[in-house]
Amino acid sequence: MRTIIPFNNNWLFISQDVGNDVLDSSFEPVTLPHTNKIFPHHNFDNAEYQFISTYRKHFQLPEVRHGRQVFIDFDGAMTACEVFLNGQKIGDNEGGFTPFSFDITEYLREDGDNLLVVRLDSTERPDIPPYGFVVDYLTFGGIYRDVWLRYVEPCHIEQVFVRTKDVLTDSPSVEFDVQLSQQDGRPLRFEISLLNAEQNVLYQDVRSVSQSDSPVKTETISHLSGIQKWSLDQPILYHLLVKLVQDGQVLDEQKIRFGFREAEFRKDGGFYLNGELVKLIGLNRHQTYPYIGAAAPARLQRKDADIVKYELGCNIVRTSHYPQSTHFLDRCDEIGLLVFEEIPGWQYIGDNDWQGITLRDVQVMIERDRNHPSIMLWGVRINESKDNEALYRATNELAHKLDPTRQTGGVRYFQNSQFLEDVFTFNDFSNSVQEPEHVPHLITEFSGHMFPTKIWDQEERLIEHALRHARIQDKQLGMPSVAGAIGWCAFDYNTHREFGSGDRICYHGVMDIFRLPKYAAYFYESQISPDVRPVLRAATIWSMGDRSGGGNDPLVIFSNCDEIEVFIGDNSFGRYQPDREAFPHLPHPPFQIRGIQLWITWGQSFPDLRLVAYYQGAAVAEQRIASRGLPHALELTLDDVELRADGADMTRLIFKIVDEYGNRIPYTNQVVNFEIEGSADLIGENPFALMGGQAALYIRARHEVGVVTVRAVTPGLTPATVTLHIR
Ligand code: GAL
Repeated sequence: MRTIIPFNNNWLFISQDVGNDVLDSSFEPVTLPHTNKIFPHHNFDNAEYQFISTYRKHFQLPEVRHGRQVFIDFDGAMTACEVFLNGQKIGDNEGGFTPFSFDITEYLREDGDNLLVVRLDSTERPDIPPYGFVVDYLTFGGIYRDVWLRYVEPCHIEQVFVRTKDVLTDSPSVEFDVQLSQQDGRPLRFEISLLNAEQNVLYQDVRSVSQSDSPVKTETISHLSGIQKWSLDQPILYHLLVKLVQDGQVLDEQKIRFGFREAEFRKDGGFYLNGELVKLIGLNRHQTYPYIGAAAPARLQRKDADIVKYELGCNIVRTSHYPQSTHFLDRCDEIGLLVFEEIPGWQYIGDNDWQGITLRDVQVMIERDRNHPSIMLWGVRINESKDNEALYRATNELAHKLDPTRQTGGVRYFQNSQFLEDVFTFNDFSNSVQEPEHVPHLITEFSGHMFPTKIWDQEERLIEHALRHARIQDKQLGMPSVAGAIGWCAFDYNTHREFGSGDRICYHGVMDIFRLPKYAAYFYESQISPDVRPVLRAATIWSMGDRSGGGNDPLVIFSNCDEIEVFIGDNSFGRYQPDREAFPHLPHPPFQIRGIQLWITWGQSFPDLRLVAYYQGAAVAEQRIASRGLPHALELTLDDVELRADGADMTRLIFKIVDEYGNRIPYTNQVVNFEIEGSADLIGENPFALMGGQAALYIRARHEVGVVTVRAVTPGLTPATVTLHIR
């Protein structure tokens, strides 16, 4: 039988290219996912992650082999590596965004100590995508994803690819390919079960495996009934369990999670999920985080998906510009968030060998991810590269061969490029929506570098940033020939000196690098249905002289409610409705309330702002902003109150200086000091000099269980404390 053992623990790391003569004592003990360097969140030299490092892992075979083969599986390591076991080279890999595996059976010492060594080159290698030219994101180094040890019988299942058919009928079916490693001529059979999310068996059967030469065996389960579809609101998942049996013995089994859904872009220009037109509204996501680069454990990956779906109300995310963590994609499946996934690259196309890696990236991405119901489109061009007919015919052909169920896109920024894909995926930086020349047409980026915005910018800039997103989403919603728009981007991200604001950040996010909202995030959030939850977010710091010319006019509010009553002090300024004239297509247009300057203006004293939002006649939300504008409290918030004692699990600790109603004090630059007690570590800048009144650190569990307390101190305010449990 197959055994899979997590292999993230007990690694040794040194930030140098060393031979066997260097003692283990010179190495540092680490747990994966691991970044080869912890950085401040900005103002660092990104050349500092570019070096060759050495990882070692001593291990004894955790389980007796009993004739099985043993593989080591890497989910990803940036950027290129050579791997050695017991002094012998077992293989290498080029490319940091896709998984790779080695059969280590013949190099193993079954009864003694084994030494695994990874020589990892994290330099920006021009021979490996995305490099060769400048790139607007960073490829932080390290074995930054999970590693596994896998035991399998010589005859085992390599892959299962599940396809659902006739999903819109009452009797859908499942067709699946099982790829076997080898066959010895003796009869084999599959025992197959279909299970629902609660693991109840809905169907079971035994099939004899055909003795054809092809390693890929195709089976079908037809005429199912009572199947529920995977949708955005109800992302119902099923499992297919395939057991490979010989002489009454189970040789291997794989359980694949999938969903019944039909997703297609049609000739009329629309995107249809289960036969229903869905306008796509989304954001791009980079996989990097402050301090830890891309070495985020499952919990943080899953949290990002939750943020995009639940805090930003999006129905689609693009994994710009590479395949991202399977933890992220798993969560997208679970919560009903569509994904446009693409191959690594950025504008530049290299030589034949480089393009060979690109073709391999297409293959590995699709083979890794084609069972995810959330993924509905493959990006098979290097983002924003020039036309290259031979390469892109090949990537499209390969994608269609590996996955006949999904369409392809390929992101470009010029409309007259060769349309070789199924969907014309287009970056539109016109600050409007260009009339499509080809359909289906999906906008894959807009805004971004055209209007960078920091969380501590003057409020009129933050408002304009939000309204740009609102205007473009409004416009695309009104154009039937446009399938949707995915803005640039969800989160501010670290980048090279050649891009961004010079401090190694592109401030293009609707949230900052800590995933904390700018006003543009409030715009997206306000498109959530009020039946899910009322949203009421004033886009103002309620001061008299922050905007050019002073005052607060117009008062902009992002809300999904029907009406908002504005109170200035105790006086009602009136009830207002969303600006449907300026935004005729948005489900929930922004409120733009004019005339405030008639009441209060620059130089006058002014009372608190109070907003009350009404939905279907009832008051459902209230927001107050203090006129006093002074720090009232230091607030600490944890995303999670429990972590796993696995040495890698992390959660975010948000800290804010707020007014008496919990609104961030936007321009405070107070210093906050943190102390931690217990079996966890703080990751990030400590002390932290605030910009914009808020930021975040991460708390990383150690290997011991216990209680952890974090205390934060800042001048003039009561210290704040939070507690969490490491289990
Ligand atoms: C695009 C590019 C993105 C990002 C963005 C900034 O051209 O595809 O990666 O650089 O510009 O707006």
